[in-house]
Amino acid sequence: ENDILSKLPLKGKKLLLTAGPTYEAIDPVRFIGNHSSGKMGFAIAKAAANLGAEVFLISGPSHQQIKHSFVHRIDVVSAEEMYKASHKYFGEVDIAILSAAVADYKPKNIATQKIKKTDASLEIHLAPTKDILASLGAIKKHQFLVGFALETNNELENAKGKLARKNLDAIVLNSLQDKGAGFATDTNKITIIDKNLNEKAFELKSKQEVAKDIINEIIKKLT
Ligand code: CTP
Ligand code: CA
Repeated sequence: ENDILSKLPLKGKKLLLTAGPTYEAIDPVRFIGNHSSGKMGFAIAKAAANLGAEVFLISGPSHQQIKHSFVHRIDVVSAEEMYKASHKYFGEVDIAILSAAVADYKPKNIATQKIKKTDASLEIHLAPTKDILASLGAIKKHQFLVGFALETNNELENAKGKLARKNLDAIVLNSLQDKGAGFATDTNKITIIDKNLNEKAFELKSKQEVAKDIINEIIKKLT
């Protein structure tokens, strides 16, 4: 009866997680993307699964690997695919953490053949992608919804704006101002802001440790 698993704080909870970049096709061989590695999202998946959560990890193109019997990995490429997969699982989860670096724009038209070079300049028209996080905020019921904010200036103000606009329960502000924090690194410096605008700032840490901090804060706010 007193088995170890039953003591895990996230046992029986389901978690939706987005991670990594998205790639938006220009033609059959080219895309618009970004430098997100997926490290932060995969670390959160592992931290949550280690505490008993069943994790649906929706990942854009990433070299990260994860082997955990509680983690189901769903690979996607574009923002549209990530949107569809996120909505597919959102209804059945208790917590959703959207850490993906989703492209904000995609080419309006995808060329069906490889675009050939000419001497003239080339214009590619872009259209906005769907905001996955905002779309989940608009329909959420019981779910605890967490977003990320990547900012270079007016950090707290911008993060609080996103928290309110997207109807979130908490937002993780990722400081790019600090050296050693961000996309290409193994470390991050975060501040977590909840919907009552309580702020909690953390030290620069490894992404594994940051992931544990994020999960611990969510557990505290769930109970
Ligand atoms: N996000 C999303 N879908 C998008 C864009 C962003 O789900 N199409 C999510 C990200 O995963 C993150 C949060 O929204 O959790 C904030 O992303 P961010 O890029 O910081 O903010 P934006 O709202 O896109 O605004 P901007 O890039 O102009 O700062
Ligand atoms: Ca963005």
